[in-house]
Amino acid sequence: MGTPLATRVRSKLSRIARDLTLPAHERKWRRIWSRVEPIQGWLSVGEGKWLFETARLLPPGANIVEIGSFQGRSTCCLAAACRGNDKRVFAIDTFDGGSDLPMCNSFAAFSENLKRCGVESYVEPIKCRSTQVAKTWNTPIHLLFIDGSHLYEEVVADFVGFFPHVIGGGMVAFHDVDETKPGVLKAWNEFFMNQFMGIGYCDRLGYGRKPENHSPRLGDGSSKQLGA
Ligand SMILES: C[S@@+](CC[C@H](N)C(=O)[O-])C[C@H]1O[C@@H](n2cnc3c(N)ncnc32)[C@H](O)[C@@H]1O
Repeated sequence: MGTPLATRVRSKLSRIARDLTLPAHERKWRRIWSRVEPIQGWLSVGEGKWLFETARLLPPGANIVEIGSFQGRSTCCLAAACRGNDKRVFAIDTFDGGSDLPMCNSFAAFSENLKRCGVESYVEPIKCRSTQVAKTWNTPIHLLFIDGSHLYEEVVADFVGFFPHVIGGGMVAFHDVDETKPGVLKAWNEFFMNQFMGIGYCDRLGYGRKPENHSPRLGDGSSKQLGA
């Protein structure tokens, strides 16, 4: 027993001692998530950690492309893994909600959240429609995270526009691979899944790697989009 203050101090010290036994990257993750958690968005803690860990394991100098940043919840998880290793995140968003969210302007909140998390220098925001950006994109991509429009045609267009730039062995992930977003689920089942190796899921995030010698395999939904 002791005073309430002594009890609080003891419990804080034991939390610090417990944290010191964790690996440095786990401590880093816990610190960043405590700042990301209040950011409005739909990403779960497990999905955020998956993005952080996947970005952390990329080689120095790697390029990460995110389509759909909104207020920066996923962007901050990705960018926190870029500190001190020359990786960067290209955050593509119209910042107006797109075709399936209520009209909004999320750019001010996005910028403010990146600053609060101390990651703004690892992120290059690209305020534009993804399909427009894809037309002139020419940078190799090591991790592609697609969480923009959830409409079938638009999510396929995002994939078709950026997948050719993903390096062999590069990682591709989609958010909302479940029945709450039928457009994403249909595109994943019919078209995306069969392009990847090592498919896995983390909550509502589906992911896989681009094969080293990839040649496009067309599902029902793809032939129209690829003009085949
Ligand atoms: C579901 S939110 C992204 C959530 C974000 N990843 C997070 O963790 O909070 C979808 C975002 O995609 C953007 N968007 C939708 N369609 C787009 C398009 N064609 N080009 C660029 N951005 C788009 C919207 O403006 C919106 O901010």
